[in-house]
Amino acid sequence: MKLLEERIRQEGIVKSGSVLKVDSFINHQMDVLFFDKMGAEFKRLYADAPINKILTIEASGIGIAIIAGLHFGVPVVFAKKSRSSNISDDVYHTVIHSYTHNNDNNVIVSREYLSPEDHLLIIDDFLANGCAMEGLIDLAHQAGATVEGLGIAVEKGFQKGGDKLRQEGYRVESLAIIESMDAATGEIVFREQD
Ligand code: G4P
Ligand code: NA
Ligand code: NA
Repeated sequence: MKLLEERIRQEGIVKSGSVLKVDSFINHQMDVLFFDKMGAEFKRLYADAPINKILTIEASGIGIAIIAGLHFGVPVVFAKKSRSSNISDDVYHTVIHSYTHNNDNNVIVSREYLSPEDHLLIIDDFLANGCAMEGLIDLAHQAGATVEGLGIAVEKGFQKGGDKLRQEGYRVESLAIIESMDAATGEIVFREQD
């Protein structure tokens, strides 16, 4: 999505440790009209898929997922990071490691909101090593749901999560894929997509 690449070039800040800050329109202030364009693009890409629910993870996936939900006309479920290690029986539970924060999160979704009837689009703002996505896929499989595909705003293509998921057979649509970025110069190279 050229519009997202341009926006990242204009407003993205490349930090050391391979982190891209996009606080001005995604991760702190949210440009909802821009989210609307991203939602429309996810709908265009997945027009042929029988999606009846969107799954994301708190916190920063939620905004994009909600607006995508409007385009698909389907409910949005967000997986919750549980502070308690006491996990009840009425939830699906997985553990997601975060390289960025160097911690493990217990992540849960109530059994009420995922079922074998569900055909899911899994949405998140960033895809890096893929731990968050693997965790959400695990929750979907526990529920017997079908994963129709993944919708990502920004994929860091130099970290291997996206390509690993594609090799595993998942459909991964990322609106922008960063091939490389340089904290010293601020230079960002995007992967060519059709
Ligand atoms: P992974 O899930 O792909 O393995 O990535 P990782 O553990 O490294 O990412 C941890 C969190 O940081 C995720 O958010 C992810 O969306 C976000 N993230 C990863 N790389 C970047 C980046 O370069 N820039 C920005 N802005 N975010 C990045 P999270 O743990 O779900 O936290 P939350 O902020 O959504 O609450
Ligand atoms: Na996120
Ligand atoms: Na985040």
